[in-house]
Parts: sequence; C-alpha cells; structure tokens
Amino acid sequence: MAGLMMVICGLALGFCICFALLKWNEIRYRRKGLPLGTMGWPVFGETTEFLKQGPSFMKNQRVRYGNLFKSHILGCPTIISMDPELNRYILLNEGKGLVPGYPQSMLDILGTRNIAAVHGSTHKYIRGSMLSLIGPAIIKEQLLPKIDKFMRMQLENWDSKTIDIQEKTNEMAFFVSFKQIVEIESASSIYKAFKSEFDKLVIGTLSLPINIPGTNYHRGFQGRKSVIRMLKKIIEERRASSLIHNDMLDNLLRNEDSKYNLSDEEILDLIITILYSGYETVSTTSMMAIKYVHDHPRALQELRDEHLAIRERKKPEEPIDWNDYKSMSFTRAVIFETSRLATVINGVLRKTTEEMELKGFVIPEGWKIYVYTREINYDPFLYPEPLTFNPWRWLDKSLESHNYCFLFGGGSRLCPGKELGIAKISIFLHYFVTKYRWEEVGGDKILKFPRVKAPNGLHIRVSKYS
Ligand code: HEM
Repeated sequence: MAGLMMVICGLALGFCICFALLKWNEIRYRRKGLPLGTMGWPVFGETTEFLKQGPSFMKNQRVRYGNLFKSHILGCPTIISMDPELNRYILLNEGKGLVPGYPQSMLDILGTRNIAAVHGSTHKYIRGSMLSLIGPAIIKEQLLPKIDKFMRMQLENWDSKTIDIQEKTNEMAFFVSFKQIVEIESASSIYKAFKSEFDKLVIGTLSLPINIPGTNYHRGFQGRKSVIRMLKKIIEERRASSLIHNDMLDNLLRNEDSKYNLSDEEILDLIITILYSGYETVSTTSMMAIKYVHDHPRALQELRDEHLAIRERKKPEEPIDWNDYKSMSFTRAVIFETSRLATVINGVLRKTTEEMELKGFVIPEGWKIYVYTREINYDPFLYPEPLTFNPWRWLDKSLESHNYCFLFGGGSRLCPGKELGIAKISIFLHYFVTKYRWEEVGGDKILKFPRVKAPNGLHIRVSKYS
C-alpha cells in the first residue's frame, strides 16, 4: 500500500514539475501582441516535436492557431509563417529588418563572410562577386563544357551494375562544383580528402553549438579548419606560379582590376558557400528526379525523347551547348516538379533586427521567423492534384514565376545558383537517360523531413541501351 502511495505521489510530483516547466516557458516568452502558439520546454522548446512529426506538427499547430504562430525551435523563440502572402512580403523586404536568421552553428562554420551572414551593401557586393562566377553568361561560355565533360566521364561504366544512386548523386554534386572552383588534373586523392573534410563541415552546420570533442559542432569546426588549410595551400601554390588555370579560383585571385576584389578571407568563405549551397540541393533533386521518372514511365519516355532528339542532331562526342540546354524544356519541367513534390527545401529562416508589426501582430527584435514554404508546394489551387508527379504543369512557363513559387527562394536572396543547379541536373539526366535503363532494387525507404534522404541508400540496377 505504502509503495503504491509513493508511486502515485511520485507521478503527481513529476506531473507538477512538467506542468510548472511548461508554464514557466510560456510566461517567459509572453509578450503583448504576439501570435498564439506554444513554447514547449525550457531550452529545447518544441524542437523534438518539430523534427519528429515534421509537416504534421506544422499542420496541427496551424489548425489550432492559424497561419502565423509562435513556437520555440532549434534553440530560439520563433514565429512560423505558413501564410503565402506574408512569406512573400518577408522575402521581398530584407531592407525592412528581416535578415537571414540561420542557426549560430551554420554561421560559425560557414564563416563570418559567408553570404548568409552579411546584409546590406556587403551582401550586394558578395552576391555580385558570386554571380560573376556562376551567372548565366559564365555558365554559357565556361561552365557548361566542364559540366558536360564531368558528367560524361562520371556516367561511364555503369552498365550491368547495381549502384546507390544517392551516393553517386552526392559525389557528382560535390565534385562537379569543386572541379569548377579548383581544377587539378589527375589529383583525385586531393579531391577525396577534401570531400571527407567538407562532409564533416556540412554535418557541423546543423548541430547544437557545443564545442567539445565528440560533438558534430566540434567535428564541423575541425572540418572547416582542414578545408581552409587545403585551400590556403592551393592559393599559395597558385601565387608562387605563373601558370594560368581556367577555374573560379584563378578568376578570384587574378581579379585585381575587377569591381569585386575580395580579401583572402572573403575568397575562402565564398568558395565554401558555393560548395555548400550547391551540394545537397543538387544531389537530392537529382536523386529524386531519377526516382520519380522511374515511377512514371510516361514522363521518362518524354524525357528520353527530348534528350535523344538532342543527341540525334549532334555527333556522338559533341558536348551539350547552351542552345541544347535551353531547348530542354521538359527536363526543366521535371526538375521543377521534382523540387516541388519532394520539397527539397522546406523553408528559409529570417530574423528581426527590430521590433515590428506583421499582420497585426507585434514581433519582438531578435526573434526568428521560419518562412515555411512547404505547404505552398501542395496547394491544390496552384497545383491541381498536388500529390501527383506531373511535370507537364511546368510547361506553362508562368508557373515558374508566379508570386508564390519559392522553390529557389525570392527577393534579394533569390538563389544565385538556380540556373547552374538546373544545368548540372539537366546534363546529368541527359547522359543518364540516353545511356541507361534502370530498375530499383530493394524497395529502399525515403524520408521526407527534415531532409529528403534514403537512410539506407537508393539502389538501382543499371543496364545500357543497346
Ligand atoms: C536545385 C538546386 C537548388 C535549390 C533548390 C536552391 C534553393 C535555394 C533557396 C530556396 C535559396 C534561398 C535561401 C534564403 O532565402 O535564405 C537559395 C539561396 C542560395 N543558393 Fe541555392 N539552390 C540550389 C542550387 C544552388 C547552387 C548550385 C548554388 C551555387 C553554385 C546555390 C547557391 C546559393 C546561394 C549562395 C544562396 C544565398 C543567396 C543570398 O543569400 O543572396 N544554390 N538557394
């Protein structure tokens, strides 16, 4: 009997402590004019629910509190906006105090001069410099032949093999960027060592900022240090030699007369930003495009037809040029539909630099705003039968530029690598679908949140078209 009483008392006490902690956290963040919502546990907030339940957590909170609600996720008090109109306003009005609000771990590891850490005129300057390296004119003249050569080589010898397409697209996305930045012929050992350090850096950017050995944050920092060390060594060698290299690093180093004359620190952070931003986005979209066209034979047939028609007007070894790329309208539609349906990017983070009013609510200074764009991708008014893979809907070009299409962000932070990313995926698809047919083996699972990922890989058996 006494034992039972102790259990009951223990449970009651536990319940009271939990209730008190939750209440305390609510009171701590109580301000006049804030949107409704819950703040969860001290320190952890609702991060666990958010990461575990993902989109359904968001939908449940929306049912309870509306399109704009408060929460506490990823270590910060946060306003979550699922309101398309407001999301657009936020993306278009950085100048009114709505600057990027990425986690501290990301800013620490990507560097103080990375594009997400800077605002105003510095942002304009860094962005301009980046566009001078990856913008459409450069893609057309310099990058396309390199991407073509890389993909052609990458896709050799896949015949009669079972491959993990997740692993392949991951390597492809990384190395195609790295080779554009630093072209070192016959130095694949450097590339591999660099990638392994860079992968540590990537994991560190999405971790709790606790810098003690054993944590991802610590490993991320070590990764950054190694990456910087390797890049500095290459820069030193370049400066000591008169050889000209046809790559982005040479452009950055021999840039004294251009309007973008970056310091070494800015060059290093710029290289890391280019590698980081075009990595998982491009690899995941490529993998999911392969997955979707595999599951939709009619789309695959139309994709193949488009690429076979291009091949027919060219000699076998002739590379894809700008006009070929521009003629790939169905391929572009496949990429947009993949990006929409898989929701490679769930949203973007902003932070208020001053107290402000949004939709009649008062948002305190320093709060994060999660511009959650995922639900817009499944809006049946914008995309009839939203859960169906239907690339044909994107052949109507106005869809790409409609007001609520945020697949590549918007406003002054619209993805500067959009065209380059699409070009890389298009050329990858070109060589893949014209050379090979494939079937999935193993029925691998794909997780959709918080990142699109096949935890055990996505295995396909590949055979060459005869
Ligand atoms: C399918 C591929 C890609 C997708 C879906 C994508 C998506 C996005 C999105 C949604 C943003 C907005 C972030 C924000 O507002 O905070 C963004 C920004 C950015 N993207 Fe991409 N991206 C892709 C490929 C690339 C590539 C290949 C590069 C570089 C070579 C790149 C470089 C960047 C950079 C530097 C920014 C920050 C721009 C700024 O702050 O001004 N992206 N991207």
